[in-house]
Amino acid sequence: MTNSVRIGVAGLGTVGGGVTEILTRNADLLAARAGARLELAAVSARDRTRARPVDLSHVAWHGDALALAADPALDVIVETIGGDDGIARALVEAALKAGKSVVTANKALIAKHGAALAALAEDNGVALRFEAAVAGGIPIIEALRTNFAANRITRAYGILNGTCNYILSQMEETGQGFDAVLAEAQKLGYAEADPTFDVDGIDAGHKLAILAAIAFGAKPDCSTMHVEGIRSLSATELKYADELGCRIKLLAFTSRTEEGIELRVHPAMVPRTNPIARISGALNGITVEGDFVNRCVLEGPGAGAGPTASAVVGDILSIARGDRSPAFGIPAVELNGLPVIPMERHRGAYYLRLPVIDQPGVLADIGGILRDEGVSIESLLQHGRDPGEEVSVVITTHDVEEGRMRRVLARVAQLDTVVAPPVLVRIEQF
Ligand SMILES: NC(=O)c1ccc[n+]([C@@H]2O[C@H](COP(=O)([O-])OP(=O)(O)OC[C@H]3O[C@@H](n4cnc5c(N)ncnc54)[C@H](OP(=O)(O)O)[C@@H]3O)[C@@H](O)[C@H]2O)c1
Repeated sequence: MTNSVRIGVAGLGTVGGGVTEILTRNADLLAARAGARLELAAVSARDRTRARPVDLSHVAWHGDALALAADPALDVIVETIGGDDGIARALVEAALKAGKSVVTANKALIAKHGAALAALAEDNGVALRFEAAVAGGIPIIEALRTNFAANRITRAYGILNGTCNYILSQMEETGQGFDAVLAEAQKLGYAEADPTFDVDGIDAGHKLAILAAIAFGAKPDCSTMHVEGIRSLSATELKYADELGCRIKLLAFTSRTEEGIELRVHPAMVPRTNPIARISGALNGITVEGDFVNRCVLEGPGAGAGPTASAVVGDILSIARGDRSPAFGIPAVELNGLPVIPMERHRGAYYLRLPVIDQPGVLADIGGILRDEGVSIESLLQHGRDPGEEVSVVITTHDVEEGRMRRVLARVAQLDTVVAPPVLVRIEQF
């Protein structure tokens, strides 16, 4: 075999380092599968002296990552630096303009600039790929772009952030609160020093925007998405969820209806019998529903050097085999601004916990507000306490529009007998 595909990798951290390792260790296997040698020809990072997973002494080093785009010896550029603008964006744009295919793991970049970058790739006859950007090692992008492409996708939902899933699983197991579990997760390397992107749902939102773009042809856009994280969840809610036969997950959900698309990230109670509820620890999982395939569930590692680098190298391999199809499965000009259904109009069941003083008339007051707003109760739970003591009243509802539940929440919070802020959690029945 004489032909080779020459690769430049920008960013040699967790993902980029993993890519250099796979390209080195599995070189013969990859050559056989790609029909060409996948040659690691150049790299760039900030610090040349830092130890890397493989020996790079024979590989060209570019102090400026942008130089990779201009290097005529390279065919494919891998961007594993990160950030939704700055050097990552500049490099990807320059590489595509220079006629080089690009593979990136950067969900923030693709969620923000994916449509424009996809158009740039098409204009230059090259490929833009980002399998590692969503759910790490799970091949969900290619599954939606190709394997499920025969279907009208109705919805896709699941767990797209391993850090949150790890924290929630630990809170459930240990009964500890969010802050204690987050601190432990940071010590163990499951959470970043600044966990904002993960625990506030932003990272899952980026990934969901990318999935919706491929599933529904919706131009990636996080601005109209409903995003809530897990910071305010207490161990109490996890205990009640268990009592109700559910587990709480940070759910990312998108669906296509006649009115538009739903795009939402928030904690949700998921029945324990649903495969998504059973995905524990740092794993990710996604359910895809289509008109012919019915329901498929994919589960696997959403982060880490091995799984993400595996996804990146899979993308390089498909480029080496000649795939130049549009990044989101349809030409970028056809990506549309489908209307996003506002969260107030979401219909579903709800869990409402009210910390109240146990005295006559409390339930009547709450019941009156629910009746006024047209909310019907599915179940009511109250564990025994002495009269006059604080107790939680837990109500689950039948399906109702979220706007009504928000009004209920505002009104019950005003009751004298409600002694702490009420808690609302959505219940998914799938
Ligand atoms: N980590 C994961 O599990 C994971 C999973 C899915 C997607 N991703 C995405 O993959 C991307 C990379 O993440 P990561 O975790 O691998 O990050 P990381 O470990 O922090 O690595 C970043 C790399 O970029 C290099 N770098 C930073 N600024 C640079 C610059 N101006 N020019 C050249 N190189 C520069 C750093 O160089 P030095 O090493 O010299 O400091 C480092 O090698 C991000 O977009 C992230 O969202 C990560």
